[in-house]
Amino acid sequence: MEELADRNVGVDVDDDDVPTLSSQALAALQEFLREQNQSPADQSEVSLVTEDWRLSQFWYDRETAETVANEVLALCSGSPSRVACIACPTLYAYLKRIDPSVSVQLLEFDKRFEQYGSDFTFYDYNKPEELPTEMKHSYQVIVADPPYLSGECLEKVAQTISFLSHSNAYLHLLTGEVQKDRAAELLGLHPCIFWPRHSSKLGNEFRLFTNYDPGTRLGGWEQEK
Ligand SMILES: C[S@@+](CC[C@H](N)C(=O)[O-])C[C@H]1O[C@@H](n2cnc3c(N)ncnc32)[C@H](O)[C@@H]1O
Repeated sequence: MEELADRNVGVDVDDDDVPTLSSQALAALQEFLREQNQSPADQSEVSLVTEDWRLSQFWYDRETAETVANEVLALCSGSPSRVACIACPTLYAYLKRIDPSVSVQLLEFDKRFEQYGSDFTFYDYNKPEELPTEMKHSYQVIVADPPYLSGECLEKVAQTISFLSHSNAYLHLLTGEVQKDRAAELLGLHPCIFWPRHSSKLGNEFRLFTNYDPGTRLGGWEQEK
């Protein structure tokens, strides 16, 4: 309780000699207890490399990264699962921060993420299946955030998703609203009510698409209009 001493805590002694805390002391005590109850994860921000816009890098804001990470972890609970993050390094970092034991592979073009050691696999969407054979059909949960909003880019990333998918894998695709029809056609995905956001404000409307009905999580699937 050294910290409390430093905060000049006052103790009033009333007529009956029963010590009571002054209102300032009580406030300081409450703040101290609140700090003690915070988990280390709450106190540490995930630090990422600077966005390189030439590589179409736009990092999720904290709420988005935590929401998607918690959904992925919910999908992993119950049975051993391997997760593949295609071009979404922020999600990788949040998953590892929330649950360091989760098995996650980051497929990324930017070699700065080699800092994640054997969890990093170099990936260029132009070569969608140029990946180690042991990755084939090995992932129960796959999250992809393609670098570009073109049909060609989504088609190639869809090829990578098929390459990586274990049977009945859970899929998440984070991309522009403009890809809605193509995402449904290529991968059977539907948009959720939860809207992802980025730290830098983007002009495009981004959506989270899934191949399973998340129920009440992620706000559920958007109803067809
Ligand atoms: C739209 S960002 C998605 C990042 C995500 N919002 C996040 O916060 O983690 C697209 C990602 O694609 C990666 N990228 C750029 N060029 C690529 C390429 N040729 N092949 C695969 N990924 C690429 C970028 O490095 C970036 O991480």
